[in-house]
Amino acid sequence: MTGVCLWLGEPAPAEPPPGEACRGSDIRITTIVVMADGRLRSSLCTEASLTSDRFVSWAERIRPAWDHGGSGLPVLVHRKLWEWLFIIEALSERGMLQPGRRGLGFGVGNDPLPSLFASLGCEIVATDLDVAQATEAGWVAGGQHAAALADLNRAGLCDPDQFAQRVSFQPVDMNRIPDDLRGFDFTWSACAFEHLGTIERGQEFLLRQMGCLRPGGVAVHTTEFNVSSNRSTVTWGPTVVFRRRDIDWIVRQLRHWGDRIDVDFDTGSSVSDRHVDVPPFTNVHLKTMVSSYVTTSLALVVEKSPDSPPERPIDPWRQARLRGSDAWHGRVGPRWRKVVSRWRTETGR
Ligand SMILES: C[S@@+](CC[C@H](N)C(=O)[O-])C[C@H]1O[C@@H](n2cnc3c(N)ncnc32)[C@H](O)[C@@H]1O
Repeated sequence: MTGVCLWLGEPAPAEPPPGEACRGSDIRITTIVVMADGRLRSSLCTEASLTSDRFVSWAERIRPAWDHGGSGLPVLVHRKLWEWLFIIEALSERGMLQPGRRGLGFGVGNDPLPSLFASLGCEIVATDLDVAQATEAGWVAGGQHAAALADLNRAGLCDPDQFAQRVSFQPVDMNRIPDDLRGFDFTWSACAFEHLGTIERGQEFLLRQMGCLRPGGVAVHTTEFNVSSNRSTVTWGPTVVFRRRDIDWIVRQLRHWGDRIDVDFDTGSSVSDRHVDVPPFTNVHLKTMVSSYVTTSLALVVEKSPDSPPERPIDPWRQARLRGSDAWHGRVGPRWRKVVSRWRTETGR
């Protein structure tokens, strides 16, 4: 293994107070995290789940999307691949990947999921930022944005005719989900809702996209998680990093509506789980650094309550919270923002 290797047993760069860091337990043997009924539940990226039989068989199925040369190399120890596999497995075991099911993907970029789902018979609406916004945000130059339908079957996972019949593309800003996207069996996004500007915007997206699901539908979304602190984090900017307490807030809101979500914050304990990959990157990339924080991927699985009302009114407190955070991050000048940012980092507010 080359490159810098930090160990999570040592003080993290932004030192959290004792007991607040979200670290893997020393006494627990990490295995794939499942619910009592054997289905995946919301969890962090670990080597054990990535190399489980279920994930490996999906990895083989989508191999053209990550092993471009078809070299037959073993499954990559990479969090991005884990995110895709988690989404696929969580949806599959809940009976969502079947002919006739309707799925809605957000910020799909070049992910292979629309084409895989279509190959399994699903009808898919794939969405991403419109080109102008995505260009401004740097997603187009980075090759991570989908501008049109043709971008989504590059790996050839689906027969082109079936793909054309079953997949449609629509520009959608995740901060403004259109009201006509309703009644889907499932929704997903990979590595996207941390890019909406602030922690509060990401949280709000998670809650609002539930409105796109029919009662009993399933949402699976992956994002950036702060492993080293539950106090300070990146709260605004192009990429924010969710702390455990930000996720706990989402969970409370969802449960209020009767949705089912359980989260396991175990970070894993294998050598690969403990390696923090920083440039020059190695081929073990389950944890990395964003700003001064150790991060990894978190996948959230939400089963919408079968008794959910068709619309969920947004309470005034939530609206005020969002407006306050937008105003705060949008209107203050860059110098003042820097001062505030330092203050928030130091005080954990
Ligand atoms: C890191 S890429 C991930 C792409 C893809 N899901 C994958 O797993 O490869 C982030 C994606 O989020 C999209 N995105 C960023 N901000 C967005 C927004 N406000 N609304 C919709 N999509 C957004 C980008 O265009 C890009 O496709």
